[in-house]
Amino acid sequence: MSKRQRWATKTGLILALAGNAIGLGNFLRFPVQAAQNGGGAFMIPYFFALLLIGIPLMWVECTIGRMGGKHGHGHSAGMLYLIWNHPAAKYVGALGLFIPFTIALYYIYITSWTLAFSAFSLAGSYEGLSSRAAMGAFLDGFQGKAVNEHFGSLAAAYGAYLVTLGFAVFVLLGGIAHGIERLAKTAIPLLFLIGALLVVRVLTFGTPDPAEPDWNVSNGLGFVWNPDFSSLGDASVWMAAAGQIFFTLSIGWGIIHTYVSYLQENDDVALVGMSTVGVNEFAEVVLGGTIALTAAVAFFGIQGTEMIAKGGAFDLGFQAMPVIFQRIPLGQLLGSLWFLLLFFSGITSAVAMCQPMVALLQEGWNITRNRAVALVTGAMFVLVQPVILFHAYGFLDELDYWVGAVALVVFALFEVVIFGWIFGLDKGWTELNKGAKIRPPALFRPVIKYVTPAFLAVILGWWLIDEVPDKIRMVGVAEEAKPYVIGARLMIVGLLAGICLLVGRVSRNWDDHPGDPTT
Ligand code: ALA
Repeated sequence: MSKRQRWATKTGLILALAGNAIGLGNFLRFPVQAAQNGGGAFMIPYFFALLLIGIPLMWVECTIGRMGGKHGHGHSAGMLYLIWNHPAAKYVGALGLFIPFTIALYYIYITSWTLAFSAFSLAGSYEGLSSRAAMGAFLDGFQGKAVNEHFGSLAAAYGAYLVTLGFAVFVLLGGIAHGIERLAKTAIPLLFLIGALLVVRVLTFGTPDPAEPDWNVSNGLGFVWNPDFSSLGDASVWMAAAGQIFFTLSIGWGIIHTYVSYLQENDDVALVGMSTVGVNEFAEVVLGGTIALTAAVAFFGIQGTEMIAKGGAFDLGFQAMPVIFQRIPLGQLLGSLWFLLLFFSGITSAVAMCQPMVALLQEGWNITRNRAVALVTGAMFVLVQPVILFHAYGFLDELDYWVGAVALVVFALFEVVIFGWIFGLDKGWTELNKGAKIRPPALFRPVIKYVTPAFLAVILGWWLIDEVPDKIRMVGVAEEAKPYVIGARLMIVGLLAGICLLVGRVSRNWDDHPGDPTT
């Protein structure tokens, strides 16, 4: 077997993990979730979820990932089987392949919109579309939701998608150190630079419309940062906050495991996990919270921002922000930079989502990286077609609900129980602390064992009672969209079954060496 790939430098590995975590979730999803859930009212459950789910799970996944890498596994299927020598472990671990592969289908597509819009902004393609409705029509035309004077077909969207997928392929072909790490070393510093520039610009907006004195920067900041205890009793705010933590930290996906598996045996996973959380949270609450939210409040007021957020994750980023940039000097350039920041955040996460499957094929079938990358991205290209063609009918949203929200929690619940109860917390804790220069506080021991699983079980239980029945019955789905929603569900089931079969096949080679993974 060829020698296992490794990250080349410590800085590179931190940046790569930051790139994995920092994504569209930080800059598009977070502000919208915060606005939908009352700004300051959202932040308290958010920090609770960070502490009780985010940090513990990050440590659990980093620990499992390092053990897996030591035994030649770059994906959670092999890793969970390593720590729980039971056939079920492989199939629980298969979720950590299914989730990132399925999300990558639509995530790469959305990332490609940001590239296209960066070019549109620079070229002035939507110049003069100064209302949200006008920008909405432009976006609908681009996405193929409508044929209008802006776009007569999906050609532009396909073009942007192919460029983005091609770029991801190029990065993945380079491998861990020469592809993914190199990308992160360029993209993440640039992302922070652009982010800082945009924050400074937004903070100097003042009160852009003298006729609306309440629409200003300080009210924008206050909207997020004034704690509001009124909705602490509202379960849906807690669910939204926990969901955001899963999405933004890339936990419950299987992709943290994979990146950590390329660490050296003695690298400090406690520190790596904590720095990933720290850098991601800075990008999320400081940059992500300030740029889009404060800008929106300054130009549309708090009520206006809440209205925009009701439209979903894209109305803020792709409609409201371009309108704002058109109203300020150098708007074309700044707008282009905003979308470029989104692109850097998206592409560094997208390659992380492809890597577990590449690792499975490479390790399981002993094929070259080039062939593994070609197979994975080729399959993605085929499977993304309905996502692109049927976007107007909610195909993408259906995938995002079941996989990008529910499945993450299911996988996380399984893995934290396997880690804390079956593998054993004592062994797990010792493993986490191996080579650690920072000592995770002992308080996290009961958190990992009891609090995190209980929190996750409550989230799942709540969903099952409150949301899932209506979702399954397609309440609120237009009649003509129902066949597409069912199609998306069939695709989910098919992909999950296919990946389980694949895992079952390649796992025949694993049966020889479970042993004690900590040795
Ligand atoms: N964690 C990545 C994001 O926030 C996937 O988008």
